[in-house]
Amino acid sequence: MSMFKRFYIVSIMMFFLLTAGASLAADAVAGKEKSLLCSGCHGANGISSTPDMPNLASQKEAYLVKAIKDYREGSRKNPMMNSIAQGLSDDDIANLAAYFSSLSYEVVQ
Ligand code: HEC
Repeated sequence: MSMFKRFYIVSIMMFFLLTAGASLAADAVAGKEKSLLCSGCHGANGISSTPDMPNLASQKEAYLVKAIKDYREGSRKNPMMNSIAQGLSDDDIANLAAYFSSLSYEVVQ
């Protein structure tokens, strides 16, 4: 799928999710719902399948909040993430960070 098509689909998904109603309480369950916006690039469980997309599963919650807010404010620059983060409220960001940080995986050496 081309980047442009991906973006188009993401925009449509964002429209429906953003108009779906008032934001829920800040929690991982709400974050999981919202994470549909992210799964195309970061993987369904926060483990991406493409080399240029970072994993989010198990990342530190505070780091995730900061990273997403930095994208939203533009102090961290990436065209995809800057545009996606624009559509997220503080609650959305807190929920997403709670969800992705709650996912765990085992490191096997
Ligand atoms: C169109 C693809 C795409 C989508 C959709 C997407 N991301 Fe990203 N995301 C990226 C890319 C590419 C990067 C790496 C950007 C960079 O180099 O700074 C990234 C980086 C990040 C980072 C920083 C990771 C780190 O280790 O520093 C976070 C956090 C993040 N994304 C969260 C999200 C969340 C939450 C969503 C859903 C609301 C989302 N992303 C949706 C492509 C995407």
